[in-house]
Amino acid sequence: MKKAFVTKAQVEEIVKSFPTPFHLYDEKGIRENAEAVKKAFSWNKGFREYFAVKANPNPVLMGILREYGCGTDCSSKTELMLSAAMGLSGEEIMFSSNDTPFEEYTYANELGAIINLDDITHIDFCEKACGGKLPETMSCRFNPGGVFQMSNGIMDNPGDAKYGMTRDQLADAFRIMQEKGVKHFGIHAFLASNTVTNEYYPKLARQLFELAVELKKETGADIRFINLSGGVGIAYRPDQTANDIVAIGEGVHKAYDEVLGKAGMGDVAIYTEMGRFMMGPYGALVTKAIHEKHTYKEYIGVDACAVDLMRPAIYGAYHHITVLGKEDQPEDHTYDVTGSLCENNDKFAIDRKLPKIDMGDYLVIHDTGAHGYSMGYNYNGKLKSAEVLLQKDGSAKLIRRAETPQDYFATLDVTDIYGRLK
Ligand SMILES: Cc1ncc(COP(=O)(O)O)c(C=O)c1O
Repeated sequence: MKKAFVTKAQVEEIVKSFPTPFHLYDEKGIRENAEAVKKAFSWNKGFREYFAVKANPNPVLMGILREYGCGTDCSSKTELMLSAAMGLSGEEIMFSSNDTPFEEYTYANELGAIINLDDITHIDFCEKACGGKLPETMSCRFNPGGVFQMSNGIMDNPGDAKYGMTRDQLADAFRIMQEKGVKHFGIHAFLASNTVTNEYYPKLARQLFELAVELKKETGADIRFINLSGGVGIAYRPDQTANDIVAIGEGVHKAYDEVLGKAGMGDVAIYTEMGRFMMGPYGALVTKAIHEKHTYKEYIGVDACAVDLMRPAIYGAYHHITVLGKEDQPEDHTYDVTGSLCENNDKFAIDRKLPKIDMGDYLVIHDTGAHGYSMGYNYNGKLKSAEVLLQKDGSAKLIRRAETPQDYFATLDVTDIYGRLK
């Protein structure tokens, strides 16, 4: 059974200061997990987790992860700016972007971030953006093509993904970049998303380690790090077994010793860019039941909508729901739990078995800590919710206020109309 990290009594207290809907984050859980990740890879001297900012760009949460040695993985200029504003610089920042605008490379280079090139054609482009000289340390993104398979079947389809370079391009890129003065290299790959198995990282790592040994032989490049990127999943569904980061770390360690260690490359650092695993389970969308509707189905309308959490609407993703205070009641009602968008896919759950829901009940929508708030948009003029941190001592702290109509109108340059709208 999936248990919410917050109780009805706690939510009743929090809503006195911050009305629903809001994303709530569990500081204790974030810290314990970050510590476990650090420990699982402590066998590797250069290990660093670069938290994928796209998963949750809240500086308070990023700041907590930083206490555990995490850097940031950025995909855009604004994510880079956020990292810089938090005092991160140089190799604490990874810039893993694609289809990258010129000025974003320029800015990443100014910060001294590690630039991870998505394509061989970006070499010249990036060189120009960096003022005619590539940085000394750079990374290239690999895409092996085909499908990525593990013992339980096909996990994902890299051959169909827009990211990364082919094997031959990677070798060529290393040669060209060395001629252009790049001294140290990294290899990056993201081959499967939300993998709920301890096998993914070890299998990917072995593949990248073997590639690193080959590329070193072929090109003479000094390979400093392997970036396993994101893709380590979480148990969204109650019947799934959560990944065990200790087993994952051990699996990568074994592959490291067997491949890199044997090849005399035992000083290569392991980097990760996890977003979902670092934050997903430690966030929840807290919302209130405000309508019930009985037509061809039973509907519960809540005060959150897809603007706060898009994953169910765009991927049909499952997010578990707990009706606070009714954890022990039988799940003998079948509901569609809906938001208020004029979009029929704005449903947090479809045909979900839940206890009887009464108006005013608080619902916790689980696992929204990654790719939750950050994916939101403003369709229908809906405003994005607040973010609240449930601190270690049990108190609640606002870490991002809810949007106001002024935020929604802020990009309009019609000052007099805006004045009237106020
Ligand atoms: C380049 C890159 N790194 C890291 C991540 C984080 O992935 P996850 O949240 O699955 O760990 C993503 C996700 O889209 C990504 O595109």
